[in-house]
Amino acid sequence: MSQVFVSSHPLVQHKLTMLRDVDTDHRAFRDLVYELALLLCYEATQDLTLNETTVQTPMGAAEGYKAKETIGLVPILRAGLGLVDGVMELLPNVQVWHIGIYRDEETLRPVQYYNKLPTDPTVQICLVLDPMLATGGSAVATVDILKQWGVKRIKYLGLLAAPEGIEHLSSNHPDVPIHVAAIDEKLNEIGFIVPGLGDAGDRQFGTG
Ligand code: PRP
Repeated sequence: MSQVFVSSHPLVQHKLTMLRDVDTDHRAFRDLVYELALLLCYEATQDLTLNETTVQTPMGAAEGYKAKETIGLVPILRAGLGLVDGVMELLPNVQVWHIGIYRDEETLRPVQYYNKLPTDPTVQICLVLDPMLATGGSAVATVDILKQWGVKRIKYLGLLAAPEGIEHLSSNHPDVPIHVAAIDEKLNEIGFIVPGLGDAGDRQFGTG
């Protein structure tokens, strides 16, 4: 099984509750997704590897540290886009590699439509970004792509998960830690997380 990290930070729980609220408008929804991404990124990066370095302060030399790994963000289009800016607030020099996957409304199976990854991997660690881990099909397909690309270390960062999605991702990729703000009760008959927050893509982009 994957390691599953559910944030217990009070700010995460407060903002997630606002995000769920049906009366939260698109602008406020996008702002909250940005803030939650930043907070969850802080937690999800607590085990990044460091190299020792020296820095010159106005008073002289100081021992310090520098992040070692080259990091890639992999937002799953389109709802994952909303998580990019919050994460980049903390990690400004990362590479962003978009993967286009939508979920077929009938079968709930992931359908890939965009992938411009170069032949050889250019990052050592990837953060897969998608607000919703529902059946887990989109996340599993994305991790499959990244492993095939040659990335050795992958983490999933999302907002809400269903138990079914955790099980699916974790059984297919037990080496991929899962970071979310909450695990909800279940999926309903049309594959939506309940109680959830509705459709994260539609609520961010005003298309619902
Ligand atoms: C949603 C969500 C995930 C996926 C989760 O995207 O953003 O990508 O469904 O479902 P799964 O875990 O069952 O695969 P959607 O297909 O609605 O596309 P969108 O982001 O373009 O709105």
